[in-house]
Amino acid sequence: MKKLRVGIIGVGSISHEHIQAYQKHPNVELVAFCDINDEQLAKMSALYGVTETYATKEEMLANAAIDAVSICVWNSMHAECAITALNAGKHVLCEKPMATTVEEAKAMEVAAEKNNKLLMIGFVRRFGNDTNILMEFKENDFFGELYYGKATYLRRHGNPEGWFGDKSRSGGGPLIDLGVHVIDLLTYVLGQPKPVSVYGVTFQKLFNRPDVKDKQGYISSTPGEIICDVEDLASAMIRFENGAVLSIETSFSLNVKDDEQKIELFGTKGGASLNPSLELHTEMNGYMSDIQLKMPTALSMDGLFFNEISHFVECVLEDKPCLSPASEGVMITEIIEAIYKSAETGHEVIL
Ligand SMILES: NC(=O)c1ccc[n+]([C@@H]2O[C@H](COP(=O)([O-])OP(=O)(O)OC[C@H]3O[C@@H](n4cnc5c(N)ncnc54)[C@H](O)[C@@H]3O)[C@@H](O)[C@H]2O)c1
Repeated sequence: MKKLRVGIIGVGSISHEHIQAYQKHPNVELVAFCDINDEQLAKMSALYGVTETYATKEEMLANAAIDAVSICVWNSMHAECAITALNAGKHVLCEKPMATTVEEAKAMEVAAEKNNKLLMIGFVRRFGNDTNILMEFKENDFFGELYYGKATYLRRHGNPEGWFGDKSRSGGGPLIDLGVHVIDLLTYVLGQPKPVSVYGVTFQKLFNRPDVKDKQGYISSTPGEIICDVEDLASAMIRFENGAVLSIETSFSLNVKDDEQKIELFGTKGGASLNPSLELHTEMNGYMSDIQLKMPTALSMDGLFFNEISHFVECVLEDKPCLSPASEGVMITEIIEAIYKSAETGHEVIL
């Protein structure tokens, strides 16, 4: 089989996951890196032995030998990088969130269609074992009608700093960074019903807790830049055309005891919680019953990314249907944009 020749645009923190997955993949040749930060580019080139490096995406994309790119730059540059790459005839795997506005997301989708190239969005949680198992149970009608979903993705002290706190580059705080994962996962399992209205609130009370000295967890490759003009807590309700409703809470900074990542789905016959491993809840022989699967359900970060990257490679090389297409990224961007608009206006937003 012909190998897919891949380049990476933006070689910061999350690119490690993309790079390691591509380097492990038997049908991929990872050929080039691009970053506007010379020092970071040189460091990553030396670390991974990828010697073809570019200071601009235009120079890298002019290389006809590159078939596909991963876009791992800050959020405000996703659209520009993806559209330039698609227009240069490359297939694109773009990190989440797809874009910072619906206008940008739609322009990306149009560029992919016009150039007949794949634009896949890196909704990595779709590629977890737990998600696959949930989908299997759903297909076997374990849940009956799924009508309510609830997710919390709370960090007590977890603003990744760098550009993450700078709205002009991130598009927002925990909602667009963390909330996007759980909104996408729940919407995916619900089967992509059409969102019809959204009510959201955001708070900016604790900022990035500049006085707290201990810092752990995910950090941007440029943590020194302390800008913080994004929300530190967001909460929202999303209503869908089929009557289903999702409720979401997500924070970078919150006076909560422990960080929490919990996803729950409720149906007429059964429910599920991912906390973080999968448990199913139902009624059996007239008794309330909880079912814990014997097999491990959660995947490591590396496992999730390897599955996501392998899927991208298969879609391009074997023309498989994409499980995380641009159209679904546009819908998630519509939901996120509407939540911010609702928070700003204090009213429900009708989509
Ligand atoms: N899927 C996940 O679970 C996950 C986790 C973390 C981050 N991300 C996403 O990955 C993206 C990058 O996040 P990060 O944490 O790696 O940030 P980062 O700051 O560590 O890295 C971003 C890199 O992009 C480079 N860059 C910016 N604009 C560029 C341009 N025009 N051309 C070339 N390089 C450019 C920067 O110099 C930097 O090195 C974000 O969109 C973020 O939301 C996804």
